[in-house]
Amino acid sequence: MEDQVYTDNMKRAPEEEPERQQYFMGLLRELVREKSREYGHPLTACIQTFGCQMNAKDSEKLLGILEEAGFQASDSEASDFVLYNTCTVRDNANQRVYGRLGYLNSLKQKNPRMRIALCGCMMQEPAVVERIRKSYRFVDLVFGTHNIYKLAELLYRQMTEGHMVIDIWQGTDKIVEDLPSQRKYPFKCGVNIMYGCNNFCSYCIVPYVRGRERSREPEDILRELHALAEDGVKEVMLLGQNVNSYGKTLARPMSFANLLEEAAKVPGIERIRFMTSHPKDLSDELIAVMRDCPKICRHLHLPLQSGSSRILKAMNRVYDKEQYLALAAKIQKEIPDLSLTTDIIVGFPGETEEDFQETLDVVRKVRYDSAFTFIYSKRTGTPAAAMEDQVPEPVVKDRFDRLLKEVQKISAERCKKDVGKTLDALVEGMDTHDPALVTGRLSNNIMVHFPGTGEDIGKILPVKLLESKGFYYMGERV
Ligand code: 5AD
Ligand code: SF4
Repeated sequence: MEDQVYTDNMKRAPEEEPERQQYFMGLLRELVREKSREYGHPLTACIQTFGCQMNAKDSEKLLGILEEAGFQASDSEASDFVLYNTCTVRDNANQRVYGRLGYLNSLKQKNPRMRIALCGCMMQEPAVVERIRKSYRFVDLVFGTHNIYKLAELLYRQMTEGHMVIDIWQGTDKIVEDLPSQRKYPFKCGVNIMYGCNNFCSYCIVPYVRGRERSREPEDILRELHALAEDGVKEVMLLGQNVNSYGKTLARPMSFANLLEEAAKVPGIERIRFMTSHPKDLSDELIAVMRDCPKICRHLHLPLQSGSSRILKAMNRVYDKEQYLALAAKIQKEIPDLSLTTDIIVGFPGETEEDFQETLDVVRKVRYDSAFTFIYSKRTGTPAAAMEDQVPEPVVKDRFDRLLKEVQKISAERCKKDVGKTLDALVEGMDTHDPALVTGRLSNNIMVHFPGTGEDIGKILPVKLLESKGFYYMGERV
């Protein structure tokens, strides 16, 4: 009988999106209400996010769908529904998920009604899904990066059919708009401007798990920005794997610089950030727009990856050391108060001590405000995984330590330069260590702690920077 209801409901589902998902959110809501009555408490849902800003944004969308379907959001993994939104950029991200799954299994043994789902980048790898299917039978639902908008439909199916549901797409050309989203912060928010990546850096798995580059229509992005501003959002982060190539594939092409100018016109949006820039596509037009538009934050994340032209070539980065240095110098000259940050990989196959010295040389010349340093991680399926000359672990570790020391020394020096100045900070929350303090973010992305109360959260306030603590400041409101 129940099967019949399910089949009939499936048949009635609209073909078009987002109508189809709205339909399934309605069905799921009824089911959730029923289960809540049966269990004697409202059904709770907990999402754990691994990885980057892109995943954080996806999790907001996933939570939006779950809340719309009647789930109560919870931070505790002892929930009725637990979803891990996974990352696979380096192997340690995968290992963390496997480790945590063991813990989830122990929770599920105490509460067999619990449902466990996995989604995100790691699930786009066939070997991972095979392992889950075989060895993690307690997982109820697995989906990937291309179909997150289908959560309501997939979960409805799982809850009515009762067995493990796996739905992974190899790619998509679809962008589904207008589904709910539940923001983590009321005053700031990520906004997708494009999905996927076409760069194929030889070490990177992202193009394989996030698919080909697709830009959203500028009208859709601007409509979202207006709605966010009306809803009290002051700071947005425009998100894409390679924002500098935004708009190239649209029917009516538009440059990223142009999109930024349009975004800056949206009343109420006070600050605009973006992530991530690829040096090869960073235009003079963009530098000029950043320089001239005060709403665009004084921060540029410009991944270097390596300072050696030889390694950069093997990485398929399409720029060499000299071009990167020239670009960084041009940006620093045009926008002197900009903070420049980067990503660096140590131990790419074939990296010699000389290559590593080239990386240190760039770090010393550019003087980054901060840098994320990574040990090269072999990702199956990428060209670099098949390269000979993988660097021995102790050598990599030693280089990593030396790089980190250099990076930290320079950022501490850089952080001193603004002591004594008064800069605007967007208050993000209470200080986690001292209840008399709040924590704010400066336009250049550096944090400042200063006396304040919960009332200040979400406000942009002028703060005098009294002392540098290496990579953050202590300050006072003026
Ligand atoms: N190994 C180590 N670091 C990597 N990154 C991407 N792929 C790998 C890999 N296989 C780093 C790059 C990128 C950041 C998000 O992660 O530095 O910019
Ligand atoms: Fe991790 Fe890359 Fe996926 Fe972000 S896009 S979650 S960094 S694999």
